[in-house]
Amino acid sequence: MTSAPFPNRPRVDALDKVLGATKYAADYALPNLLYAMQVPATIAKGRVTALSIDAAMRVAGVVKVLTAGDFPPPPAAQQGAPPPPATITRDIAYRGQPVALVVAETLEAAIQGAEAIRPTYAADATFTATIDGKGAVRQPVQPTVGGNATTAMVQAVTRHSAEYVSPAQHHNPMEMLSTTAVWEGGVLTVYEGTQGSNAVKGALMRNLRLTSEQVVVKSPQVGGGFGQKGGAQRHTALVARAAMLLGRPVKLVVPRGQIFHNASFRPKNRHRIEIGADAAGKMIAVRYDADQQQSREGQFPPNYHETPPMMYGIPDYHGTAANIRIDTQAPGYMRAPTPHPSSFAFDSAVDELAVKLGVDPVAFRLRHRATRDPIDDKPFSSCFLHECLSEGARRFGWKGRPLAPGAMVRPDGTQVGWGVGCGAYPANVHPNIATLRVGADGTTRFAAAGHEMGQGIRSTIEQILVRDLAIDPARLEIAIGDTSVAPQHVTAGSWGTASVVPAAEQAAAKLKAAIAELLAGRSPGGNLHRQLAAVRRPFVQVEVTTVGPGQGDKDVARLRQGGMAVSGPEYPAFTSFSYIAHFVEVHVEPHTRRIRVPRVVSIADCGRVVSPRTAESQVRGGVVWGISACLREATEVDPRFGGWLNNDLADYVVAVNADIGEIDVGFIDRPDMQFNSLGAKGLGEVAMTGCAAAIANAVFHATGTRLREMPFRIEDLL
Ligand code: MOS
Repeated sequence: MTSAPFPNRPRVDALDKVLGATKYAADYALPNLLYAMQVPATIAKGRVTALSIDAAMRVAGVVKVLTAGDFPPPPAAQQGAPPPPATITRDIAYRGQPVALVVAETLEAAIQGAEAIRPTYAADATFTATIDGKGAVRQPVQPTVGGNATTAMVQAVTRHSAEYVSPAQHHNPMEMLSTTAVWEGGVLTVYEGTQGSNAVKGALMRNLRLTSEQVVVKSPQVGGGFGQKGGAQRHTALVARAAMLLGRPVKLVVPRGQIFHNASFRPKNRHRIEIGADAAGKMIAVRYDADQQQSREGQFPPNYHETPPMMYGIPDYHGTAANIRIDTQAPGYMRAPTPHPSSFAFDSAVDELAVKLGVDPVAFRLRHRATRDPIDDKPFSSCFLHECLSEGARRFGWKGRPLAPGAMVRPDGTQVGWGVGCGAYPANVHPNIATLRVGADGTTRFAAAGHEMGQGIRSTIEQILVRDLAIDPARLEIAIGDTSVAPQHVTAGSWGTASVVPAAEQAAAKLKAAIAELLAGRSPGGNLHRQLAAVRRPFVQVEVTTVGPGQGDKDVARLRQGGMAVSGPEYPAFTSFSYIAHFVEVHVEPHTRRIRVPRVVSIADCGRVVSPRTAESQVRGGVVWGISACLREATEVDPRFGGWLNNDLADYVVAVNADIGEIDVGFIDRPDMQFNSLGAKGLGEVAMTGCAAAIANAVFHATGTRLREMPFRIEDLL
């Protein structure tokens, strides 16, 4: 196994993508296709008392309206597995919940039919739409404790405490949520852009009482997932049920406004942080209370203490977290789900303490080297955060930065500020079962667990196969994201690469050995395809099973059964995280007070970089989203009616090209050989962590004003 850097090969799907040839779920044009549209509830809480389908059925082209009575009752609870999303129920738990599904010969008829449905509701006026509302119920979870922060805080001679707030946000991938369902010969085939084809399959089996053999979910290409497509969403079973009842393929593309209301989102969250430093100016204690918006039944965990204890080797840490249950749809995972907001809060607080101590923020962070997980008391398998900080500072030109805020003002009055922010993300891993087949006809096929959301997982797999095997890359098929080609894990939590590259590597080695055995000492020359042809073998196929540190047969069995078997960041002998340091320059315009971010340097430690091109692109994307999350994105609730006010891309403002300046990306590229055979940790989500803090810290450096609630708006600096 070589350790030379990987070549920077082009993305395997680049040409298809620029040609528009890549096929997403809604692009499958099936014969005899019907179109569906959901009818959203217009109350925030209560019950549907009457629902007439007559007006909808009078619309030409409408063939069926599904209501609560068309679905089996909720499935029995299953131990260790969250319940699948509900189908259509008469009870309404949030504004926008589907009360009916209209199916028609055309999309226009489906929309017209859906608009014709006017249910009668018994509305419950006691609903609570905001976390400060009267009916909000606070529910603490287990605290996260290392050492004794209460005792240690008493010893501290310098303390900083403040509250930080991160808003509700919605994912908005380019590819809308959609489902195309086909029921044929007792088998349900679903085309859906999802990061978890097996999770969708499992939810369909439970909601619609189907067996494993009866459901296939195909998600070979996803147009952005960001966690919203990580689990089953509510609309899928509705469309599948319609296809089963009608015996014709049915397609639903969920309109963006309905996605805002009916799919998962990043909940609003708050962070009260106190950090104490000793006489030498070293951080010794943290007390940190976090809470988040939650639905009445939701299960998205408030894991805000996942990364802050892993950053700076602070021995005494006491973290609490709570759900604030209100009447909303269930929140869920959204890129760097808890590490993004907690790194904004925590790395802002660290910066504020450095300012209080009068120490340069980079030098302050470099005083603190994390080598162990203070919660589980295990050594890190690797942590090159200091290297990220030093390399970033060098590239950015940090030296010579004035310590005092407001000291870099241009002649036109523009205030310039430089900030640093750091983040981490768990290095997770899932077992994989892969088959690799090389044919004498020139073809190669690799099938495994994994989903392509645009991050470039196929390109990463190709890097390994092309490095290790003399094959024709132009005729290499990488079959992933399909429950019929291999058991599929949910591809999320930044475990995609680490969960598939060892499988590709081991499959390649096993295949080479199998061919060598066939050749029995002969050397026919040429690539593997020619060698097989020379010995008259149509193909050779091998299967491998790979597991992460400490994983075994039980985890592989769980994957085979379609369950989650992810491990990390704590492993039997160590704890593993990826790290990043961002350096940001902001300009605050003198009259408008608009914040611009012309320049960012981001240096990541994700172990070995397997695919330089897609890795750099991931970090760029993470920084773009960090800027967007910090300066633009927030979803607003109308407390009188519930639901989301800015539920489209005109009003839910995201960063655009004009908001993005230069982004310089670098990697430490040092392998973590305890973690896996390639030394590759995850990268997708760590890219975003700490970026918002770097912006906040730069805004303070530019203006002397400390902003603690995202997004930062013009009025915050007036
Ligand atoms: Mo991600 S939010 O783990 O897809």
